Amino acid sequence: MAKIIIEGGRRLRGTVRIGGAKNAVLPILAASLLASSGTSQIEDIPNLIDADVMMETVASLGAAVKRIGTTARINARHLVTAEPPYELVRRMRASFVVAGPLLARYGEAAIALPGGCNIGQRPVDLHIKGFEAMGAVSSLENGCVRLRAPKGGLTGARIYLDVPSVGATQNIMMAATLAHGQTIIENAAKEPENVDLANYLNKMGARVRGAGTDTIRIDGVTELQGATHNVIPDRIEAGTFLIAAAVMGDGVYVENAMSDHIMSVIAKLEEAGAQIEDDVTGIRIYPANTRLRALDVKTHYYPAYPTDLQAQMVACLSVGLGTSTVTETVFENRFMHVAELRRMGANIAVEGRTAIIEGVSELSGAEVHATDLRAGAALVIAGLVADGETEIYNVHHLDRGYDNIVGKLQALGARIRRDESELGVAGSLTGAAG
Ligand code: EPZ
Repeated sequence: MAKIIIEGGRRLRGTVRIGGAKNAVLPILAASLLASSGTSQIEDIPNLIDADVMMETVASLGAAVKRIGTTARINARHLVTAEPPYELVRRMRASFVVAGPLLARYGEAAIALPGGCNIGQRPVDLHIKGFEAMGAVSSLENGCVRLRAPKGGLTGARIYLDVPSVGATQNIMMAATLAHGQTIIENAAKEPENVDLANYLNKMGARVRGAGTDTIRIDGVTELQGATHNVIPDRIEAGTFLIAAAVMGDGVYVENAMSDHIMSVIAKLEEAGAQIEDDVTGIRIYPANTRLRALDVKTHYYPAYPTDLQAQMVACLSVGLGTSTVTETVFENRFMHVAELRRMGANIAVEGRTAIIEGVSELSGAEVHATDLRAGAALVIAGLVADGETEIYNVHHLDRGYDNIVGKLQALGARIRRDESELGVAGSLTGAAG
């Protein structure tokens, strides 16, 4: 397995361009299954394992999928099955969002129950609760969630989500587009990726209102057509580079980033002393005059500080001035990067859902292992800061959500490279987050 090697201490400067959002591309590719006529053209798809897996999953159901660079053309007129191969679903839990489109279009879906993953149990009970409210019948057979719509199709319903789940909001929204009558989703997830999905659905002929607010209304229609859509920029990739630049940058411009999608992150970095300006095409960040000031950060549902930028912030604050706290309220086990950061000299204690970080003046390079996608990004940031050489194993986690992070950091002046030759230490922890 490949590894990433970083010679720390090099300052970052220049421009980095952000790609399309992984967490918008995945549900939008799934939503293309809803079109019974026409061809969808999805643009600005990043080069990521997860995007490839979702395109393979959509194709496995019978859709014609053609990828040309960062564009995918998808024609879902002839679907042949409602059961994607277990091997594909096992690789990426986000594949579960094909359930809603299949149920709406095909009247049934059979999706392998996504296993737990490194960051938490990741249940799908809210997805199923929404489908059942619309009249579907669900069963769990041989590790597979089997869903069947009534003969006449799904019926709109009023659904309250106990937790503003991103995936459940997406799945229910997609199922509701072809249901009879109106569906109301209350306590819906407000992430920008869900707004982008709703915009794509409406281009297909759906009638979705209120995406981005607590309450989404979907009036069912009889059919949807393929549409062209350009995916929003990846706010988590943008935030990752902003955090790296806050601690190691001397003036970095993060191009194709939408500041209003990461206001919470910008506010926290400014509170720590970074200077940030945004313009219509991106965000410029200058470092603090001294080491970053200590912060108290608490992840929560959008628009609060995102859980997907929690590990990166922990790495950044590990060399801050004073004692910081980072509390993770979304997932139950998302501090696995802490043990790896400690190997690099970080002084962090985890008490329940809170990491208490005593800032140290420097980290030292070490051999470390990525345990999930964002933990890997945190280790890259720590490697950029550390004195000496850091080797990061299990970089396949990074390849799921970062398009050419090594090349982008090299272009900013980092001394970082990828070594495919190493037989990296086997044993990437089981499961797939994401
Ligand atoms: C999406 O996962 C993202 N993945 C995650 O990003 C992100 O961390 C997460 O949303 C939260 O923002 C994609 O979009 C592909 P949730 P999702 O359902 O939809 C509980 C990354 O690094 N819950 O919003 O699976 C759940 O246990 C990945 O890019 C239920 O209880 O997350 C969790 O505590 C990691 N029942 C909370 O909701 C359900 O039926 C939020 O999960 C569903 C979720």
